[in-house]
Amino acid sequence: MQLSAELTKAYNDQIQLEFESSFAYLQMGADFELRSLPGMGRWMRLQSAEEHLHAMKFIQFVLDRGGKLELQTLAAPHATPDTVVHTFEAALAHEQRVTRAIHGLYKKALDAQDFASLPLLQWFVNEQVEEEATVSTILERLRMVGDDQTGLLFLDRELGSRAPGADSGAPEADGAA
Ligand SMILES: [Fe+2]
Ligand SMILES: [Fe+2]
Repeated sequence: MQLSAELTKAYNDQIQLEFESSFAYLQMGADFELRSLPGMGRWMRLQSAEEHLHAMKFIQFVLDRGGKLELQTLAAPHATPDTVVHTFEAALAHEQRVTRAIHGLYKKALDAQDFASLPLLQWFVNEQVEEEATVSTILERLRMVGDDQTGLLFLDRELGSRAPGADSGAPEADGAA
């Protein structure tokens, strides 16, 4: 069953948002590297790559359903906040925005009785729970170390141990999609 025009538009908007997420994390990662926080830089770069994969996952689905991909101009990322805590706060706010978008897309698919969309969107609903949890944990730990530079360097090293393709920043996590 071919994807409806309305759902095709909704998927294209989501693809746009995933690429913008990828862009935003790439900028944050580069700025961390510039501030001599290579671990956080690496974490953000891997996060950026993961968002790119999300976009590709949606693109493949749209094509499999006979929909037309319509790429749009990407908005420039916001300037990276001046502290590490504020940067991860911005990342969390961004993920919460993506979660709302995924939920909106799920509701549209449900209302249209587009049942083939539901497993894909359920995967993304779960993914967003993980993404928000991961970023929240990093944020809590950053708040814990506060102004302690040694703590910050420790967290930088820990985030730098993130494995490529893993879904979260936790060293034990290995949830490649
Ligand atoms: Fe994503
Ligand atoms: Fe994300």
